[in-house]
Amino acid sequence: MLNIDLELALINDMVLRQRIYESLVYLMEWAKGQRVVITGASRGIGYLLTLELLRAGAHVIGVARSKEKLLEIENEYERFKGVSCDLSLLMCSEKVFRETMNSLNGVDILINNAGFAEYGSIAEQEWNSIYSQIMVNMVAPIYLTKLFLKQMIEQDKGKIVFVLTGGVFAYMSKMGVYGASKAGLNYFAEVLLRELKKTNIDVILVYPGRIIDTGFFDRESFRRARIRKCMPFECTTASEVVNAIIKAIKKKGSRRVYVPKALAILAKIGPRLGISI
Ligand SMILES: NC(=O)c1ccc[n+]([C@@H]2O[C@H](COP(=O)([O-])OP(=O)(O)OC[C@H]3O[C@@H](n4cnc5c(N)ncnc54)[C@H](OP(=O)(O)O)[C@@H]3O)[C@@H](O)[C@H]2O)c1
Repeated sequence: MLNIDLELALINDMVLRQRIYESLVYLMEWAKGQRVVITGASRGIGYLLTLELLRAGAHVIGVARSKEKLLEIENEYERFKGVSCDLSLLMCSEKVFRETMNSLNGVDILINNAGFAEYGSIAEQEWNSIYSQIMVNMVAPIYLTKLFLKQMIEQDKGKIVFVLTGGVFAYMSKMGVYGASKAGLNYFAEVLLRELKKTNIDVILVYPGRIIDTGFFDRESFRRARIRKCMPFECTTASEVVNAIIKAIKKKGSRRVYVPKALAILAKIGPRLGISI
């Protein structure tokens, strides 16, 4: 009798352990088999997000110009493929689409993350730079979304993430071109969210504040300028932004993500008051 009880207890213990193990694996591999395209995978939040998604079991196509960095990730993860091209050229988005369809036969999550800003008044900025900011920050995400949307609608499943900026709710001085490109993308993403409401395609709009630990402010024009200190609730870190994006991707439904959360207040009052920062 005692032996049977003991055996049952052991079996129960093994079943419980197996269940806990399976739950842990499930939690760790939450993105298993998901097909992801992410732009700006070589640095900053795009790079961290790429690693998180790979660790969680996803197949990732990462886009950036830096070939070496993409090769480095490819060498570490079999499920990663780098596409090295310049998103200011339309043919780069077309290349990303072709390579994705050839190697993954579609996409489940599109993360429009690549972006950059040049610091300076509109009069000071070179036309080439203005053009590139608009192409990389606004035209490329719109074009990539358009290219992948048909396939997402056909499979009635997908997530499209737009990395915007909290700056769209205020006027960023000396970042007028950057702000205009992100505000244009924000408008597009807001309308897309409404258009896809009755489908199973989620649209996630991400509004980071100033991220203090990425390469974004390393450009010469920022170095020359005296960037003011962070205002309360304005700044954040790359890992905080990445965690917030992962959390939003894991949930069902379209949503807006503010990092830090207090930026949601700026979203409400900024446009009405015409705040300049
Ligand atoms: N940092 C902030 O304070 C902040 C605040 C709000 C929003 N954001 C937004 O967050 C996103 C990520 O920024 P981050 O802070 O992580 O900046 P980051 O460290 O400078 O990374 C930018 C990424 O975009 C890629 N990229 C830039 N120009 C490209 C081009 N022409 N073609 C292809 N890829 C290009 C870069 O790769 P290559 O250089 O290798 O091409 C890099 O992987 C951007 O959309 C940015 O606007 C940033």
